[in-house]
Amino acid sequence: MKIRVMLSFIPLFCFTLIASGAEPIVIRFSHVVAEQTPKGIGANRFQQLVEEKLTGRVKVEVFPRARLYNDDEVFIALLNGDVQLAAPSLSKFSTITKALELYDLPFLFNDLAAVERFQGGETGQRLLHALDDKGFKGLGYWPNGMRVISANKPLRSPADLQGLTLRIEPSKVIAEQYQFLGAIPVKLSFAHTRDALRRELVEGQENSWSNIYSQGFQTLQTNITETNHSFQGYMLITSKTFWNGLPADVRGELETILAQVTEEVKAQAAEQARQDRQAIIAAGKPKVIALTDEERGLWRQAMTPVWASFTPSIGPTVIAAAQAANAGSR
Ligand code: LMR
Repeated sequence: MKIRVMLSFIPLFCFTLIASGAEPIVIRFSHVVAEQTPKGIGANRFQQLVEEKLTGRVKVEVFPRARLYNDDEVFIALLNGDVQLAAPSLSKFSTITKALELYDLPFLFNDLAAVERFQGGETGQRLLHALDDKGFKGLGYWPNGMRVISANKPLRSPADLQGLTLRIEPSKVIAEQYQFLGAIPVKLSFAHTRDALRRELVEGQENSWSNIYSQGFQTLQTNITETNHSFQGYMLITSKTFWNGLPADVRGELETILAQVTEEVKAQAAEQARQDRQAIIAAGKPKVIALTDEERGLWRQAMTPVWASFTPSIGPTVIAAAQAANAGSR
């Protein structure tokens, strides 16, 4: 009897031993941009805070600059458990859900502050669940900046885009927006964009200041037009299987850390855009074209007809909620 009781303790004893000497949970965070961008800085900060607060229990490995996966591959990699965290641009969700196409509508948000108000509100928070039925969990939004257009010729009015080949992210809204203007949009991964510009396979591209500067796109283009026509930002995602399988206390601590990092990224993104823009202007090349209100109005007029194609699938009430967030922005 005594032996039987003792034997019944053995599995528990072994489990305790394994648990105390257990390997840390590894979180591989794959992204495509440089480390000195809002997303790159956020990813490294997350790694640092996890190391401080979950020492020995969780280890974060960050893979920037598409060293592991491009954004089109990372969704499958998450579901397969090859990586545990990613923050693709909202435009890259286009093939998975129509709901997030909202973010690509040109001239929807006036600035980053408006985006932040929308994302913090009820509709923005609801959109974090847009991928729930696909096996993903949205953990939060990180901003980058407003998009401007770079090219190897001056683009002052929308008509200047006629016949121009432009690298775009794989978004149906963005593709149609440029087709409306008579340009030729070319969907290319971020990792291949610099090379495509260098070889003149495309003549221009649209992006945030930090992505342009950190990739050196400005060295390959003659002009940048400050259209600020759309928002470029990210949804931080993981797989539901991974996230729900974490011990509750670890998951809770990771959520707290992510909330802190998200606040830091939000606080820093606009300043980063300002600095990178300034650095490009200071270098004197390419020429930065600032638009008057009237000129920007022409871009708005030329691009916004694309809304009509996507309003039914995104939903007019969602669009109205986003527009309402502009109150308080210029
Ligand atoms: C792009 O492909 O231009 C961006 O989505 C890259 C990024 O992650 O900011």
